[in-house]
Amino acid sequence: MRRYFLPEFLCFVGSNSFALGAEREDIRCEKVEGLIVAIDGPSAAGKSTLAKRLARDLGYTYLDTGAMYRALALKILRQGLDLADGAKLAALVGATEIDLVEREGNSQVLLDGVDVSALIRTPEVGQMASKVSAFPIVRRRMLELQRVLGQRGSVVAEGRDIGTVIFPEAEVKIYLDASVQERARRRYEELRKSGRDVTLEETVRELEERDKRDSERDMAPLRKADDALAIDSSALAAEAVLERVMRAVKRKSLTN
Ligand code: DC
Repeated sequence: MRRYFLPEFLCFVGSNSFALGAEREDIRCEKVEGLIVAIDGPSAAGKSTLAKRLARDLGYTYLDTGAMYRALALKILRQGLDLADGAKLAALVGATEIDLVEREGNSQVLLDGVDVSALIRTPEVGQMASKVSAFPIVRRRMLELQRVLGQRGSVVAEGRDIGTVIFPEAEVKIYLDASVQERARRRYEELRKSGRDVTLEETVRELEERDKRDSERDMAPLRKADDALAIDSSALAAEAVLERVMRAVKRKSLTN
């Protein structure tokens, strides 16, 4: 496995005298602050695979913002809350704690202090996450939480609005996409492996529906930031995508 390390300090060496024995070299070192890497794109484009590998290889924190929306969606489904009831939705959002933590090398999402990581990866939770994420009250709360989680830098954050809204100042922005057929094929295989009885047609429909809702909502819709590097992963192996992004991160960390 290849590992990459970014320098913690960058040093600049300058000499203003060439007289032998008399020169004093000026060495100036600066601490390199951890970067923010923002990865956006539609469902099943490979964002999680890329973001997890990148975070692990750089020693950065992995911030899965979709998992936060999914955790809230799980609570809504459990309570059978009607999204049309704005007052109840606001009360629920205000009374919900969502956190991302690293435990034994795994990232976990905590809903009101309980690990729900294994319960949020179903198509039903994904659809509810997409629906509830269109509500401004939900997005405002997530923005607050996500900015706090990312404020120390050295973060790889993935989602739909990371480079445009959450961290518009991110030093590296990636927009990862792939054809809907390829994304559906990947998602279908994942779901079948986890024992779900779904068809490829259903999976295509589910993705198209979610993409449409996520990119057409009024607040913070899915879109590529103007300064994001666009990568189409339809015909690229995960390793090749990682290499390209790692090159962009290294370039940025040296020019900063
Ligand atoms: O990335 P994901 O499939 O786990 O995300 C689930 C849903 O959450 C997605 O359909 C839209 C919403 N989401 C969002 O609106 N903004 C984000 N930054 C991340 C996810």
